[in-house]
Amino acid sequence: MDKIIDFINVNREKYVDELKTLLAIPSISALPEHVSDVKRCAEWCADEMRRIGLQNVRLIPTPGNPVVYGDWLGAQGAPTILFYGHYDVQPVDPLNLWHSPPFEATVRDGEIYARGAADDKGQVFMHMKAVQAHLTQQGRLPVNMKFILEGEEEVGSANLDDFIRAHKTELKSDVAVISDSPMFERGVPSICYGLRGLVYFQIDLRGSSTDLHSGSFGGAVANPAFVLAQMIAQLKDRGGRVRIPGFYDDVRAIEEVEREAWARLPFNEKKYRKDFGIPKVFGETGYSTLERTWARPTLEINGLLSGFTGEGAKTVLPAVAMAKISMRLVPNQDPVKIADLFEAYVREIAPKTVQLKITRMQGGKAWMTSFDNRFVQAASRAIEKGFGRAPVFTREGGSIPVVSTFQDELGVPSVLFGVGLPDENAHAPNEKLDLSNFHNGIIASAILYDEMARTTST
Ligand code: BES
Ligand code: MN
Ligand code: MN
Repeated sequence: MDKIIDFINVNREKYVDELKTLLAIPSISALPEHVSDVKRCAEWCADEMRRIGLQNVRLIPTPGNPVVYGDWLGAQGAPTILFYGHYDVQPVDPLNLWHSPPFEATVRDGEIYARGAADDKGQVFMHMKAVQAHLTQQGRLPVNMKFILEGEEEVGSANLDDFIRAHKTELKSDVAVISDSPMFERGVPSICYGLRGLVYFQIDLRGSSTDLHSGSFGGAVANPAFVLAQMIAQLKDRGGRVRIPGFYDDVRAIEEVEREAWARLPFNEKKYRKDFGIPKVFGETGYSTLERTWARPTLEINGLLSGFTGEGAKTVLPAVAMAKISMRLVPNQDPVKIADLFEAYVREIAPKTVQLKITRMQGGKAWMTSFDNRFVQAASRAIEKGFGRAPVFTREGGSIPVVSTFQDELGVPSVLFGVGLPDENAHAPNEKLDLSNFHNGIIASAILYDEMARTTST
């Protein structure tokens, strides 16, 4: 391993330059005008996978963006790692809040700023460099590797489940490795053993065929913005509890051991409030902040649109109002069941004065694993060697729908080893990745493959 680690240390600066070229490709999956950039990014990744020595590299088409595949299967008798990451990124708006252009990666104070720096290009690239270090220094990997990179993660992975079902045999492996999450805190590396699930809706209300003069019609015609506000007010109470009947029926309770372990984590509420400019935390009564984001479901408004929002005043009675609403789910809530409950409740509370349209969007199941398996233990040792500190075990509030598909369809457990930071600005302006975490992450990843090779299935 020393030779490999030396090689990684020698190439530290070069890796940053290379990462910049990947970060320059605006592979925004949500915006149709970027579809050729997404394709170009898939090709860049495929070329890079060939350069680092992976084999059988190709783009596998899906009804949406291609999956990039590559493997190295020369480690007879050793376990097979299925590495998953995504090459698509989130949109960049509001652009005026970026301190440097989102697709011209810029290094400031040891952080690299660009859309995708942390989520997920930087973390994918970290594994590419770890693989490359093994292959150039030893001519082989200690494990077998199957790499899949998705181009639709940020828009709900609509085609990935089918892809996995269609390629079950080719994807057969012993463990999935994913680096697409933050670590607990600067200097506190972590392994994530749980993610929340998601269901996402758009609600459209129409109160009239056109906008109306609010003087002539106000008071006699329902205002869809007002109706929407009243409906939304019935979705969650002031104590943070979701009011959809049956919503909590299948929620798995937080175990006492988890509660105790999380209470011991170095979480500092004051710093949390300060870092994110939060006057006072809010959430379900009876739960701590970590419990609320990691182990309790929630319902949030992601967007709201109606009426006149320009400067000055305009007396209008808007014809339409729209809301984007999502729910984060925990084990053992079923996304389809929750979506049905939501829809039934919204129909029930909608007055007859408006036309209601409900659109169901992406979703995915929550995921949770026990962390006493040999691969998690191997990851723990690797992280300790790479970061000089043993990882803590966390759950996260975000969602990576494919993780439960790996479990259900392939029977493969996942190890989530992320090197982002909680303030990495994923999905927000000024996304960044700490370069020492990136560097230590390459070393830890290289060690991870080695440690996983040493585990035995007995
Ligand atoms: N990398 C995130 C998932 C994540 C976020 C994991 C925070 C752990 C902590 C991923 O790219 C993401 O943003 N997922 C979406 C999924 C959705 C579009 C189905 C999410 O969580 O909103
Ligand atoms: Mn991600
Ligand atoms: Mn994301």
